[in-house]
Amino acid sequence: MKRQKTVYEAAIEHGFSRRDFLKMCTALAATLGLEFTQSDQVVKAMETKTRVPVVWLQFQDCTGCSESFIRSSQPKTESVLLEMISLEYSEVLSAASGHQVEASMEQVLKDYKGKYVLAVEGSIPEDDSFLMVAGKSAKDTFLKMAEGAMAIIAYGSCSSWGGIPAAHPNPTGAKSVTSYVKNTPTILVPGCPPIAEVMTGVIAHIITFGKLPELDQFGRPKAFYRHRIHDKCNRRAYFDAGLFVESFDDEGAKQGYCLYKVGCKGPTTYNSCAEMRWSGGVSYPIQSGNPCIGCSEKDFWDNGPLYTRRAKIPGTQTTINPDSVGAAVVGLAAAGVTVHAAGTVIKKKIDDKRGAEE
Ligand code: SF4
Ligand code: F3S
Repeated sequence: MKRQKTVYEAAIEHGFSRRDFLKMCTALAATLGLEFTQSDQVVKAMETKTRVPVVWLQFQDCTGCSESFIRSSQPKTESVLLEMISLEYSEVLSAASGHQVEASMEQVLKDYKGKYVLAVEGSIPEDDSFLMVAGKSAKDTFLKMAEGAMAIIAYGSCSSWGGIPAAHPNPTGAKSVTSYVKNTPTILVPGCPPIAEVMTGVIAHIITFGKLPELDQFGRPKAFYRHRIHDKCNRRAYFDAGLFVESFDDEGAKQGYCLYKVGCKGPTTYNSCAEMRWSGGVSYPIQSGNPCIGCSEKDFWDNGPLYTRRAKIPGTQTTINPDSVGAAVVGLAAAGVTVHAAGTVIKKKIDDKRGAEE
């Protein structure tokens, strides 16, 4: 069996200085939500732990999850691919192809049984005739590789829930990974696609701590899926003040008002978009003017229609009803919330104006 290099050894081999390595560990600690003082735990893990072998299988997908993964900025994708994991099989990223790459999958089963991570992108059809790779059905390949894996990471809404391939009428009988496998520890990382840093962060956690991150009742890592988009949204003050976009070309849209009435699913969606944002923290759909379509939630494609207002807002942290705010003051408490929120909006406008003048 090949001796795996430690993450530190691999980093030095790829031209990292000690300083670069420490910077990578500090960034990683921040992504994992650790205190700065806990960075030394990450450094120690990366110095001593060997790279984790990863097999990345793709089934009924659009490759959007792989596309997202290769855009991670913290940790950088090249650090993950070259130093932290040893990517043994990937249809998109492996240099080898055909028989060679198929042989490397068999080799993983021989060399690393019980030690490799199986990443899965895309749903798996119940009917084998819909997806065969290298003469084998998607289901057979998945079951074979799942049995020998230390853990499965379901990347994206398709492998986590079935996703778009499983949307009504689900012609292929598309299913999630957990429909087939119950005994191998599985982490769901839903999203269409998931945020790059969430994808790399989950692998980094397994390497650093040698175990799965803490999961919620659905199997999602709590660190990244514990908040509703609505509760961290940059447009929330407008929601609380009752200021809504009514159509995409109105004055409210130009002012950046809340997108609830044009179909935002932020009140029912759990994901880190509003906190971590996308493309290295640049923006996320709502900030860019598009309502959240709830892409990380189960059956999001059938929970539509998209861009149509939800009938009700669930959840206890929602302070107001968008229909009544501004039309009537319902008691002192509600008035207090509205005045405070409106104050926030007015202050923001004053600040914006000052900024523009300066
Ligand atoms: Fe943000 Fe959507 Fe909630 Fe409005 S409804 S505050 S746009 S998440
Ligand atoms: Fe998806 Fe909504 Fe985030 S559409 S990318 S969960 S803002």
